[in-house]
Amino acid sequence: MKTVLITGCSSGFGLDTARLFLDRNWRVIATMRTPREDLLPASDRLQVIALDVTDSDSVQKAIAAAGPIDVVVNNAGFGAPAPFELTPMETVRQLFETNTFGTIAVTQAVLPQMRERQSGVIVNVTSSVTLKPLPLVSMYRAAKAAVNALTESMASEVAPFGVRVHLVLPGSSGETRFRETAYQYLKGADDPVYGDFMKQTIARMMASNGPGTHARDVAEAVWQAATDPASPLRIPAGADAVQWAAEAG
Ligand SMILES: NC(=O)c1ccc[n+]([C@@H]2O[C@H](COP(=O)([O-])OP(=O)(O)OC[C@H]3O[C@@H](n4cnc5c(N)ncnc54)[C@H](OP(=O)(O)O)[C@@H]3O)[C@@H](O)[C@H]2O)c1
Repeated sequence: MKTVLITGCSSGFGLDTARLFLDRNWRVIATMRTPREDLLPASDRLQVIALDVTDSDSVQKAIAAAGPIDVVVNNAGFGAPAPFELTPMETVRQLFETNTFGTIAVTQAVLPQMRERQSGVIVNVTSSVTLKPLPLVSMYRAAKAAVNALTESMASEVAPFGVRVHLVLPGSSGETRFRETAYQYLKGADDPVYGDFMKQTIARMMASNGPGTHARDVAEAVWQAATDPASPLRIPAGADAVQWAAEAG
């Protein structure tokens, strides 16, 4: 039986991905900052483990408790919309700590066992915003684009050890807690310099709401990366992400 470890399973894409792999008879290690046993159906193939990706002790303990892992899904992340100039450095650091350094820390912790077994898959969930120079997401976009870059570079380093790496790029989804969390970090709507630009940009984004991404699209894209060795390194997830990827060429 194959084992997948997923970060950020308390809600959204991570939770749906855990559900999908459980349904398809995998052993699932669902990790959360605050572990909850009631979010997923009870199963002897399910293990819920505490994992804060920004805490190296927590990363080491979780990987040690997990045992052999066939597939790791770096999904934990958050956004903080604000103009570049107004984004507090503390928020910039938090964005990189979680979205970028957290992904690096978990991957470095899992890679040795995969290399020794000559088998494994690493799936990094970034974002389709990396495909377009959108305003108000400069820091989030940079944190996710860094993951795209390191994933592409490490692909050829680890391929000789039988390890595959993939990027899943979700489009915009209202089915998760992402927007609610991002709203807590929103800055600049009342700013005398950037306020009007922000309001107009957000109104334009709302008006041009395209097809959107469902949590299931992301879970299926992660499944494809995990189970199909022929799947591409970059997998857009959701109709809007597929459209943006085609436009980006
Ligand atoms: N929804 C979208 O529109 C969208 C689009 C493109 C990409 N994404 C990306 O997709 C991923 C999943 O987001 P989502 O939409 O499913 O949002 P979500 O419902 O807010 O889920 C985010 C998950 O990340 C966890 N998390 C945050 N910081 C963490 C940390 N330090 N350590 C461990 N877990 C942490 C959260 O846990 P807590 O409950 O503890 O906060 C939560 O489980 C993220 O990487 C996000 O950037 C989302």
